[in-house]
Amino acid sequence: MEKLLIKGGSTLSGNIKCSGAKNAALPMIAATILCDEKITLKNLPYLQDITTIFELLGSMGSEILLDENMDFTISSCNLKDIEARYELVKTMRASILVLGPLLAKYGKARIALPGGCAIGTRPVNYHLDALKQMGAQIVLKNGYIEASAKKLIGNNIRFGGITVTGTENLIMAATLASGTTSLTNVAKEPEIIDLADMLNSMGAKVSGAGTDKITIEGVESLKGTEYSIPADRIEAGTYLAAAAVTNGNIKIDGINPKRLMKVIYKLEDAGASIIYDENSISISMTRDRPKPVDITTAPFPEFPTDMQAQFSVINAISTGRSNIYETVFENRFMHILELNRMGCDIAVQGNHAIINGVSSIYGAEVMATDLRASASLILAGLCAKGETVVDRIYHIDRGYERIEEKLNYLGANITRLPS
Ligand code: EPU
Repeated sequence: MEKLLIKGGSTLSGNIKCSGAKNAALPMIAATILCDEKITLKNLPYLQDITTIFELLGSMGSEILLDENMDFTISSCNLKDIEARYELVKTMRASILVLGPLLAKYGKARIALPGGCAIGTRPVNYHLDALKQMGAQIVLKNGYIEASAKKLIGNNIRFGGITVTGTENLIMAATLASGTTSLTNVAKEPEIIDLADMLNSMGAKVSGAGTDKITIEGVESLKGTEYSIPADRIEAGTYLAAAAVTNGNIKIDGINPKRLMKVIYKLEDAGASIIYDENSISISMTRDRPKPVDITTAPFPEFPTDMQAQFSVINAISTGRSNIYETVFENRFMHILELNRMGCDIAVQGNHAIINGVSSIYGAEVMATDLRASASLILAGLCAKGETVVDRIYHIDRGYERIEEKLNYLGANITRLPS
């Protein structure tokens, strides 16, 4: 397994460009199943999760072409198979995103039931309950979700809890349903708006994305489109946090700051000076050590769970005591044990981390447990004394495009060690 060797102590400075958003791209790729024409996606990030969803679509019969501009054209017309096998689902839970489109377009789907993962049990009951309310028959058999529906029927559906991919699945399912579907208690993440925009450019009638109620008027068919994946707000937030822990001064281009205002406010509370316009964010850390900041994660527009691990590092080297409450996933503190091995002083009680800032941390061999946990270990390595080796970095390659290249460009000293 490859590892990253990080020599700590560099101060990050310079400009980088934000890559396309993984969590926007995945539902958009699944949405290609809904239409009989080709769809071109631009600015797709080069990530393992994107390769996995392409493998999934390819296994069902989609044709995927990459052109000289690095744009992907996907043709998911006439799929020969409607199954997402366990081998793929177990490596990427977001494979569940093909359930809604397959049901809407082909009237059936067989998807391996995703199991628990490193950050929580992550059931899909809200997806399934909502699809049942549109008339889908769903049985769980031999570890698979077997779903069928002659035609999905519009309904007024209130989600049992807020779910990002659940909201996306239902929006996609409802585009080709008969009648009007209204969804409440929905996720409001920017990626939901991106998906709705793309579907509308295909001829769907989706309104209200980004608000508490989304309405979808079913249409007979959808047409091809060309769509550019917006920048990844979590990637941008991670680099801002990297600057904050290295007394850095960096600018990130291509990102709309409205997508991470809560993160920006917390960085300012930690002592960073931040300037932004509609397409870039600059950060300059004005203090030797950050001020401690209390964080409670919650669905958008609140502080994102996907930035919690990175803020654990900011707080770990801060000048005081802070609290982090993780309210979205029940087991998203796996990075804390590894951070403590680097000299951090963090206690975990259930969903509450109590962090006592320390004046310095030191390098160690550490193990990544999930995508954002890996990012936090890299951040810790950047500000630690000496060398840090992060193992199991396949997690980071799922969601950060060329992370060591981008950080080295900003002045970090990171080497990828071969297996
Ligand atoms: N939940 C249920 N039942 C459901 C669905 C969700 O109980 O049917 C619970 C989950 O267990 C969790 C909470 O609801 O406790 C929220 O889960 P959600 O469904 O919103 O998460 P997701 O859609 O599986 C997406 C992102 C995650 C991100 C979360 C929260 C994608 C592909 N994934 O996951 O991204 O953390 O929303 O914002 O969009 C990441 O990029 O590192 C990542 C994990």
